[in-house]
Amino acid sequence: MTATTTDQHHGTLPAGFLRGFATASYQIEGGHDQDGRKPSVWDVALKDKDNGDVACNSYNMIEEDIALLKSLGANVYRFSISWSRIVPLGGRNDPVEPRGIAHYSKFIDRLIEEGITPFVTLFHWDLPYALQERYGGFRATGEQREELLLDWDRYVRVCFEAFGDRVKHWITHNEPLSYVYCHFAFTDDYKLDEKWTVGKNILITHARAVDIYRKEFQRPDTVIGIALQSEWVEPIDDSQAAKDAAQRGMDVSIGWFADPIYLGKPNATVEKLAPGAYDFTEAEWAILRGSSDFFGINHYSTQLATGKIITEDPPIINTMFGSIEMTQEPGGVPIGHRGHDGHPYTVPWGFYKLLKYIHATWTNAGVSYIHKDIPTYVTENGYAEQDERQYTFEERINDKNRVNYFEGYLAALVGAVQEGVPVAGYMAWSLLDNLEWTSGYKPCFGVTVVDMDGGTFKRTPKSSGLYIKRFFDEAVASK
Ligand code: NOJ
Repeated sequence: MTATTTDQHHGTLPAGFLRGFATASYQIEGGHDQDGRKPSVWDVALKDKDNGDVACNSYNMIEEDIALLKSLGANVYRFSISWSRIVPLGGRNDPVEPRGIAHYSKFIDRLIEEGITPFVTLFHWDLPYALQERYGGFRATGEQREELLLDWDRYVRVCFEAFGDRVKHWITHNEPLSYVYCHFAFTDDYKLDEKWTVGKNILITHARAVDIYRKEFQRPDTVIGIALQSEWVEPIDDSQAAKDAAQRGMDVSIGWFADPIYLGKPNATVEKLAPGAYDFTEAEWAILRGSSDFFGINHYSTQLATGKIITEDPPIINTMFGSIEMTQEPGGVPIGHRGHDGHPYTVPWGFYKLLKYIHATWTNAGVSYIHKDIPTYVTENGYAEQDERQYTFEERINDKNRVNYFEGYLAALVGAVQEGVPVAGYMAWSLLDNLEWTSGYKPCFGVTVVDMDGGTFKRTPKSSGLYIKRFFDEAVASK
């Protein structure tokens, strides 16, 4: 175990702070054809590649995962429900699968019995394939969009009915920004411009889920919201061009979704780039405004904006940030600790700046649509090692780079909290080494090694998992 100290953070986080880990159904569950589950878009797209057929076998290892969470001191676990297990064919007239419901119900009961708060994501990208075939999933427009909305309403209502008596923390969508690009993985003829349509459908389905929840299921101590993502984008220098580009990067990556939800209005940069991006009816705007009880943020790293806008065929990462040119190595000097994949990666000051920016821009009482302070939950934060599976077991367990990452980012979290940013919880990505979508099993984000090659799926915590435990044991104030 690492000798890194955590004493200097003693009592710096409020009592009751939620501390734990995050995962998503398709990335960990396996059991792809168990208990009536039907394919999701990923089962089809990744059929002949690394896929989620078996993954970490979490579907069959509820007790092992809960024991692991306890051993790492977690009092919260963020996981997602697989639509394909609840309504395997997806649609509002398709049958509900009682075995899928029973599985998550039992899991939720066991988490609560062990003192772990379930933080449940309704949709972490694994759409039932049947809906992709029927109308293109979240790409749907016109009458087909109506189909999507009604199918979605039915799915979320089934979840609220089945689990809402026990689950008090809900996330509607995960990382809409990534999902609008995920479509390239499972839709052959997807066009870049369709991202605006998918984004619009994500926003409105989010709002509808929240509306249904608030009208029919919300209790005084429950919350519902969305998990957005952003890297921090910093201007490379003091030039106006770099500052404008950085702002454009933040607007497109996060303002796109955050402005309508937290400020009740379109993001001006996005509206300029895509005039139809917020083409909502007044009734739709009415349910969108103020539709999140918290700010869920997934954050990994920081980029510098050079000031150049790339208009022709920029790589996806630049496109995601509004086609701005970005770098992590100005003049060949990395801005942070160089990760093993060859990219500078660990940039804790960017996390600190992002948390401050979220508070200043969207969540303090002076700006938020509801005129109240809105708490932030860090719903993902973590570090990938690209070649970790080539390492010896000892090397994997002794994951110094990952420990270094969490040391920096958790100190940055404390720094932001001490300056008044109301952060109510932190969930590291990820509890387990799992399937990184189209990148397969190569990158490891986990704080735990899973024995996949040996087929035992035994979980062994890495130094980083133990570091996170010690950090929060020390940092969270006792009542
Ligand atoms: C984003 C996603 O929510 C998650 O599914 C993914 O594995 C991690 N971040 C790492 O890329």
